[in-house]
Amino acid sequence: MTIFDFVDTDALGCVISVDTAAVVIRVEDLDRLKRLQVNRLVVLQSSKSGQHLIGVVVKITRKPDDRDLEADALSEEDLPPNENNLVKITLIGTLLDRVGEQRNVFRRTLETVPEIEANCFSLEGERLTRFMQVISNVETDGPKLSLGNFTLDDDAVAYLNGNKLFQRHAIVVGSTGSGKSWTTARLLEQIAELPQANAVLFDIHGEYRPLVSDAFHHLKVAGPSDIESGRGLDDGVLHLPYWLLGYEALVSLFVDRSDQNAPNQSMIMTRTITEAKKANLAAPEFKEILDNFTIDSPVPFDIDMVLVELKRLDEEMVAGARAGSEKQGPYHGKMSRLISRLEAKRTDRRLAFLFQPPAECMQMEWLEKMVHNIVAGRGAKDGAKGGIKIIDFSEVPSDILPLMVSLLAQILFSTSLWTKQEKRHPIALMCDEAHLYIPERAQADSGDSIAVEIFERIAKEGRKYGIGLVVISQRPSEVNRTVLSQCNNVIAMRLTNGDDQSVIRKLLPDSLGSFGDLLPVLDVGEALVVGDASLLPTRVRITEPTLKPDSQTVAFWDRWNETEPKSDTTNAIKSWRKQSST
Ligand SMILES: Nc1ncnc2c1ncn2[C@@H]1O[C@H](COP(=O)(O)OP(=O)(O)O)[C@@H](O)[C@H]1O
Ligand SMILES: [Mg+2]
Repeated sequence: MTIFDFVDTDALGCVISVDTAAVVIRVEDLDRLKRLQVNRLVVLQSSKSGQHLIGVVVKITRKPDDRDLEADALSEEDLPPNENNLVKITLIGTLLDRVGEQRNVFRRTLETVPEIEANCFSLEGERLTRFMQVISNVETDGPKLSLGNFTLDDDAVAYLNGNKLFQRHAIVVGSTGSGKSWTTARLLEQIAELPQANAVLFDIHGEYRPLVSDAFHHLKVAGPSDIESGRGLDDGVLHLPYWLLGYEALVSLFVDRSDQNAPNQSMIMTRTITEAKKANLAAPEFKEILDNFTIDSPVPFDIDMVLVELKRLDEEMVAGARAGSEKQGPYHGKMSRLISRLEAKRTDRRLAFLFQPPAECMQMEWLEKMVHNIVAGRGAKDGAKGGIKIIDFSEVPSDILPLMVSLLAQILFSTSLWTKQEKRHPIALMCDEAHLYIPERAQADSGDSIAVEIFERIAKEGRKYGIGLVVISQRPSEVNRTVLSQCNNVIAMRLTNGDDQSVIRKLLPDSLGSFGDLLPVLDVGEALVVGDASLLPTRVRITEPTLKPDSQTVAFWDRWNETEPKSDTTNAIKSWRKQSST
């Protein structure tokens, strides 16, 4: 069945001029012209049967005659009685009724141009919905991915191809308050409809706590108040014990690069960590792991062992040249700064999730349990945990956030990498506030650069291993470019900053230049969607999610206008001192 069942009387008008991809049509009926808007899609009869040309309206004018098509609209009094109503259209593709066995195929090429006098129809309502299904290659049965409806046509649903959106990564951008978090919630809700849904959301500010249903599994990275409570994975509290960190990450935490002893300190750390890890692999059952050991092997080790050895070297005295004499050992005094940094971090309550994990987290088996909690879907045998995992990082100090988020991403990536292909279950990583931990500018060897490296790898290779990235940020110009350039889908919401706009414009296809002009004028909750998942750019009004993130927008004026006073300094100070609000 062809999706375009137009009859001639529906026609908007007919073609009066053709120039490669630019077509001008004359519209006789003023009412039809008035209903038309820039950026709407139109269909033109093609000279070949079984084909229709698709165009987008770029300009609408009422003009005295068609000799000067390019001039801007003239003032009212200049209009002669027999005006011409003209619509300028850019052709963007062809819809073929059939190609071999396939019906309704959209191509971004122009195989023909329309003839003079060819009819032009406005693409609206049902027909637009059907056309969207065709271009996003959405199956007609089964649950479909849809963020919302077309802004220019409320009756038409904007579908996206759910395979392509996650396979080729996506970004969601927009100034603060433009609706990114709600869009993310909408997306998660759509994913959650599927029985084997699998996604992880990095929730940096705890905004997504209100998303509570069977489909959502909430985990919070342990805060200072969780140290004594002994709560763990079963209570939704996630520790990220230090032994999970790679060697580079540990060095970036403990070794101050500006210290002249830094090279010695890194070398000693390699040695002591290797020894401490190997000490845990003495049992015969670990022989295979020991045989293939690297410093990055995810094996628990006792940081106290490392500390004891560092202190020994720092104070070591060795035999001197003369009999009975003593001199300072090779590392005497050279480990002091490293030791004090290590001790400070170890006892820092804010880093308790890292350095003061409960005993359970120091077992080999714990990693398996933790990964299972994060990657297992809703249908997992042990307990009906949701397929959408929301990980709350709100109590993680900001300087260490990049290391921690990327650590989880890395664990998920490694897990997929080491899963046999036929057993791999695809997973989407949704990175809210990505500019905070996938920054464009990162100092060499810092936690930031380690994080960037991990995300770059996922962006480049994730597709092979079934990992889709969704990068969400209000400052795309501050997000790592390599990662952005791997994102083949753009969901752009209102974006006011010039630097950010130009980053996004570069990601939009060239032929759609004027769409970029919409970025600053989009409404709250409105997005431009373009990319692999939607071959044509579409302006979508995002449907409100049922469960809404907590946007934490304070209504200053309304609050100031209330009669009851509100303040609680006593508890604020108390919480500040104990570093916990619970
Ligand atoms: N799709 C939408 N429909 C209606 N209102 C919306 C929509 N998305 C966002 N909003 C409004 O905008 C506010 C901010 O949205 P939010 O998603 O938190 O923005 P961001 O994450 O971009 O800072 C919300 O509290 C809500 O009032
Ligand atoms: Mg947000």
